[in-house]
Amino acid sequence: MMDPGKDHQTDRLEDIHAEIERLRNFIRHHDYLYYAMDAPEISDREYDTSFKKLERLERDYPQLLAPDSPTQRVGGAALERFEQITHASPMLSLSNIFEVGELIDFDSRVRKLLGTVEPIPYLVEPKLDGVAIELVYQNGVLVSGGTRGDGTVGEDVTPNIKKIRTIPLSLMRNGLLAETNLIDIRGEIFMARSDFDALNKERDETGQPSFANPRNAAAGSIRQLDPAITARRRLRFLAHGVGRIEGASVNTQLDLLQGLIELGIPSNLEHAKLCGGVEAVLEHYRVLNQIRNQLPFEIDGSVIKVNSLDWQTQLGTKSRSPRWAVAYKFEPMQAETRIVRIDVGVGRTGTLTPVAIMEPVNVGGVNVSRATLHNQDEIDRKDIREGDVVLIQRAGDVIPEVVKVRSECRDSHSHPYRIPDHCPVCGSEAVRLQGQAAKRCLNSSCPARLKETIKHFASRDAMDIEGLGDKLVEQFVDKGLVRDPADIYYLEVETLVSLERMAKKSATNLINAIQKSKKVSSDRFLFSLGIPLVGATCARLLVQSFGDISSIAKKDALELQKVPGIGPEVAQSVVTFFSEPRNAQMIERLMSAGISLYMRPETSSGTTSLQGKNFVFTGSLSIPRNDAKKIVEASGGSVGSSVTRKTDYVVAGEDPGSKLEKAREFGVKIISEDEFKALTGVAE
Ligand code: IVH
Repeated sequence: MMDPGKDHQTDRLEDIHAEIERLRNFIRHHDYLYYAMDAPEISDREYDTSFKKLERLERDYPQLLAPDSPTQRVGGAALERFEQITHASPMLSLSNIFEVGELIDFDSRVRKLLGTVEPIPYLVEPKLDGVAIELVYQNGVLVSGGTRGDGTVGEDVTPNIKKIRTIPLSLMRNGLLAETNLIDIRGEIFMARSDFDALNKERDETGQPSFANPRNAAAGSIRQLDPAITARRRLRFLAHGVGRIEGASVNTQLDLLQGLIELGIPSNLEHAKLCGGVEAVLEHYRVLNQIRNQLPFEIDGSVIKVNSLDWQTQLGTKSRSPRWAVAYKFEPMQAETRIVRIDVGVGRTGTLTPVAIMEPVNVGGVNVSRATLHNQDEIDRKDIREGDVVLIQRAGDVIPEVVKVRSECRDSHSHPYRIPDHCPVCGSEAVRLQGQAAKRCLNSSCPARLKETIKHFASRDAMDIEGLGDKLVEQFVDKGLVRDPADIYYLEVETLVSLERMAKKSATNLINAIQKSKKVSSDRFLFSLGIPLVGATCARLLVQSFGDISSIAKKDALELQKVPGIGPEVAQSVVTFFSEPRNAQMIERLMSAGISLYMRPETSSGTTSLQGKNFVFTGSLSIPRNDAKKIVEASGGSVGSSVTRKTDYVVAGEDPGSKLEKAREFGVKIISEDEFKALTGVAE
């Protein structure tokens, strides 16, 4: 007779195995939706519950553990050094081309070798600027991951690869390549721009050197001996080809990328295009060049591949690169030039901002001659000096930045640069206040500050005076027509027509626009005054709490600080502003000119850019949590107590807790308290 107890046990083990497999597949599926597709379908809690249940079952039944279980990403000891890994077939590189003529030559060569005059179908893919990696999957399970190395032998970075959430530990058995039992998948490990910026910011704050670009950051992160470090770095992977494939086959490069996606491997397909001939190739190259700044990751060119895999085999390879593909590079976004001098601009609050004036240079098709240097700390950190040869970088439409100095090109007379101790415009003393990065001109009637104050006052989010642009403001100040914002309301058509390029009609239009701006909500008016640290949200909080400007003006710092979201610096800044007799007089003159203030209804003030955004706080903030919550809610957002995949921002205060880890794992945007304040407009 069979042992009923044993039978029962086997049954039970089988059930447990089935349950474990069900949980693994459930988690894999939702990992894929979340990490590869950016389209999560379940809540954080549901995911966590299944994950914990799987962990528990695997702990209780270690005999059922599998190397491709989603739990196996966790853990992993640090290595002493990397082992070598030999690629089964060499990982080739690509020949680069830079001009249309070279593209036409490439196409002619291909057609000649194939003996055809017909146009060749090519797949044009973006060329990702990352680190080349090969992943080996045996019977659908990831067995190794290696760097390209010299093409034949690379470094075994398998434990690190397992930390990259867009790389599945086991393949899905779908589509064109479902039957494969051995596949070497090749692609690029890279870092998205946003993750790169966050990483550098964090390194900066903790005194570690920042990475020069996302490629270096990705390379540095995948070659970490401690996989726990790699795990924190938010690396991504996109496949662009294969080495060996056994048990399945496809006919074209396009089908290959499609097939990889069906296996659950993110591939380059989204921005790739099948082109019927060389003209279409050129067109897609141009499209990619145009959208490159909008992509979440950096690309440095396009890769043009003969689409038919038979033809690829027929064309074969040269010693290090294939004859069937070529990299058509974009113009670089970095360039070298020389700093002619460093100028200093003066902002509304008197901040002195150093700007490098450089010999003009073409960076990615745009002529550039100015780069922002931020502040003295930034200049010291990079040791930027007048006369230096520098590497500059442009990203999107932002002002270019200096990446590094070629200090070896410096002559012996060079000396470190210091932002002057006097305002370059009015000559008053410029000081660096304690705890601040910037030096400031403290003269409130400095013409440079005045121009910025008036520009801010008239701007769209402030008094919104249509037609009062920067050029006019500069003329008004230079000619002494406007010495403070109130003077704007005493301008007359006759005075305006005496100005350059100002006809009677435009003068009348401007006066009408000035009249129209007089009716304004109290919070907008308060914001327009340009009180340091008082942004639009902060102004709204103050007005909502105290009702009108004259009440705010009478409050002391302690009373102001009672308003949630108003910290001691903001409160002090408000008090200082209203205690200055000149400011009080100016407000009086504005009122006599007919400024008419009204209260904005609370509901409309609550709808701002934070509408629908969910925040989670971790660590200690300089303001009470409850105040931070009220700030978010006043702007239309909500606050959660735990990080989920739906969280939009995690605000990290001092000594942040495990929520930070979680945010990193889920790819939720992490911001500092300062960034939070800037975002909510509490201190702008
Ligand atoms: S195909 C034989 N496609 O560029 C084909 N490579 O200089 C070799 N790369 O080492 C690769 N994006 O790491 C290919 N869409 C793409 C690529 C790409 C980036 C990298 C790759 C390679 C290097 C060649």
